[in-house]
This record gives sequence, structure tokens and C-alpha cells, in this order.
Amino acid sequence: MKRLLVILSILPALIGCYQGQPSPDPPVHLNPSMFNQQKLNPQSPDPLFADGAGMRTPPSGTVARGFLREDSIYYTGLVHDTTPVEMSPVPTTLAVLKRGQERFNIYCSPCHSRIGDGKGMIVQRGLNPPPPSFHDDRLLRVGDGHFFHVMTEGIRTMPPYKYQVRVDDRWAIVAYIRALQRSERATEKDVPIELRGTVK
Ligand code: HEC
Repeated sequence: MKRLLVILSILPALIGCYQGQPSPDPPVHLNPSMFNQQKLNPQSPDPLFADGAGMRTPPSGTVARGFLREDSIYYTGLVHDTTPVEMSPVPTTLAVLKRGQERFNIYCSPCHSRIGDGKGMIVQRGLNPPPPSFHDDRLLRVGDGHFFHVMTEGIRTMPPYKYQVRVDDRWAIVAYIRALQRSERATEKDVPIELRGTVK
């Protein structure tokens, strides 16, 4: 009986030590180590500054590491932030085209279709307004930067894809769209001599 009383009396004390239990008191730390530090947590007030805010606003023009993006054509597809650049800044290689094909088929073909005629599956099912065909004269004539810019910022009813598709991948898609456009207009001369006659 005595034993039971002892256990019952220390039980609440033990439960009180349970971490995660809401309590207004500071936690008891037998070995405080670095638990309590002289520092400001995010959003904490600090009387040191006139506005009383512990978090300081960075000086204007501050750029986070890795976000300088000095090469504005590469990051926007536009010259002077207005005109689409004529030629992609990324040289077209077979690896770039393959990557572009893969990304295009994932991110663009549901609406634009695998050949870029604007009759993707979503459009066929009436779930999205039909996009223009990439083989329209107007889109044959626009600069490479136009495609990059449309993917980056979206256009009218098309949402932006900058959050899903990386910058280098967007340029790879541009290269692949150019290949699609060429393929729609290909003649026998575009086929390597040894393969001519095998293609219908
Ligand atoms: C959810 C469907 C959808 C997806 C996915 C989509 N688009 Fe579009 N896209 C559209 C629609 C709709 C339009 C027509 C927008 C309008 O004129 O209102 C369009 C228009 C365009 C145009 C023509 C812009 C112009 O000058 O008229 C380009 C270029 C384009 N999209 C590129 C892309 C690329 C590249 C991707 C893949 C990264 C992509 N789109 C993914 C729906 C989509």
C-alpha cells in the first residue's frame, strides 16, 4: 500500500516533465547546453531599433545568393525586357533536343499535343480552350524568346510554367518546338540520303 502511495505521488511530477505539455513556465533543463541563447527569433521585437522590429529589411537592391540573374535574356527571353530575342542563347545539341522533347511531352503536350497543333487531349475533351498551332505562320515567324517568355509568364488563358519547368529546360523546349515546326514542313531533302525511300 505504501509503495502504491509513493508511486501515485511521484506520477504527477513525472507527467509534469513530459515535453510537449503546454505550460507557461520555461522548461526545466538539467543540462541547458545551448538551449537558451541570446538571440532574436524571427518576428521577435527588439527595442534596439527605432521601429522596434528585430527583423531588419534588407537594403534595397539586395540580391539573394544565386539569384543575381544578370543575363536577363537568358532568364526572360526578352531583349531590354520588351522584345523577344531572335535566337535562343542555348546552342541546340542532340541532348538539348531530347531533354526538350521529354519536357515538352510532359508539360505542354496535354494542351498543345505532341506535334504542337494545339489539339492536345485536354483540349479534345473540352477542358481547356484550344491553343494556337505552333505551325501557324505567326508562330513560325516569332523569335525564340517568344516561346520562352510565354512558358515563363503565361499568356492570356495559358498559365505560366516557370514554377514547374526550370530555366534551362524551358530553352530546351524552345529548341524542340523549333524542331517540331521544321518537321511539319520537312521535305525529302531533310531525310538523310540513305534513309530516303524508307520514309513515307
Ligand atoms: C493547360 C493547357 C496548356 C498547357 C499545359 C500549355 N499551354 Fe500553351 N497555350 C494554352 C492556351 C489555351 C493558349 C492560348 C492562350 C490564349 O491565346 O488565350 C496557349 C498558347 C501558347 C502559345 C502561343 C502564344 C501566342 O503567341 O499566341 C505558346 C508559344 C505556348 N502556349 C507554349 C506553351 C509551352 C511551351 C508549354 C509547355 C511548357 C505550354 N504552352 C503549355 C494552353 C496550354
